[in-house]
Amino acid sequence: MESNQDEKQVNPMPYIGTKAPAFTAKTTQGDINFPSDYTGKWVILFSHPADFTPVCTTEFMKFAVMEDEFEALNCKLVGISIDGLFSHIAWLRTIQEKIDYKGMKNVEVKFPLIEDISMNVAKKYGMVQPEESETQAVRAVFFINPEGIVKAIIYYPQSLGRNFDEIKRALIALKTAEEFGVATPADWRPGEDVIVPPAGSCGVAKERMESKDELTCYDWFFCTKKLTKEAIDNALLKQ
Ligand code: BEZ
Repeated sequence: MESNQDEKQVNPMPYIGTKAPAFTAKTTQGDINFPSDYTGKWVILFSHPADFTPVCTTEFMKFAVMEDEFEALNCKLVGISIDGLFSHIAWLRTIQEKIDYKGMKNVEVKFPLIEDISMNVAKKYGMVQPEESETQAVRAVFFINPEGIVKAIIYYPQSLGRNFDEIKRALIALKTAEEFGVATPADWRPGEDVIVPPAGSCGVAKERMESKDELTCYDWFFCTKKLTKEAIDNALLKQ
């Protein structure tokens, strides 16, 4: 069947490198002013399609169980869906009281879950993608730095539960890039070599190719260096 994409409303989305759109909202932990309440911290703002749905339930349990790991990286979690506050409260109570899933039970979700019946926030962040649903958000993940700048965005469809290992890996890689002025190669994990910025002149390119220490150059445009896990842990934890 042909899609009527042209007739559907297209919602804007923030771009990487831009200021996270501001809003005030009610949450399960009280009112918030976003992103100003989080100045000085990283934030993962993530949307889910609806309360009382199975994939979302597994994701909330996983985020709640990992919350301390994100906290140790100076990162706060903020969830959102196009549901009301009472639905959120009832769902989170059900999760804690009844759901026993893959060794996770009695899980208390302590991070805020935004009510967004009006879709005000979801639309500002391009979380409503009409080909997927006009009334429920997709699974979006926004990584926002301590200055309130969007540093990375991942979108998943409703049917695909997120990979939390990747979300944590991405946060560490983003922080490492900012802290050490490097880039991270495919599948990078802390402790593995990082990529130094490309040579900006012929002289630097030559120097790099001739350098015997510090750098490993695969070609003049592709050089890596060592960065220990300890150095990353020392720099990133609580920063
Ligand atoms: C879920 O979370 O299980 C779900 C939500 C919306 C569509 C499909 C699955």
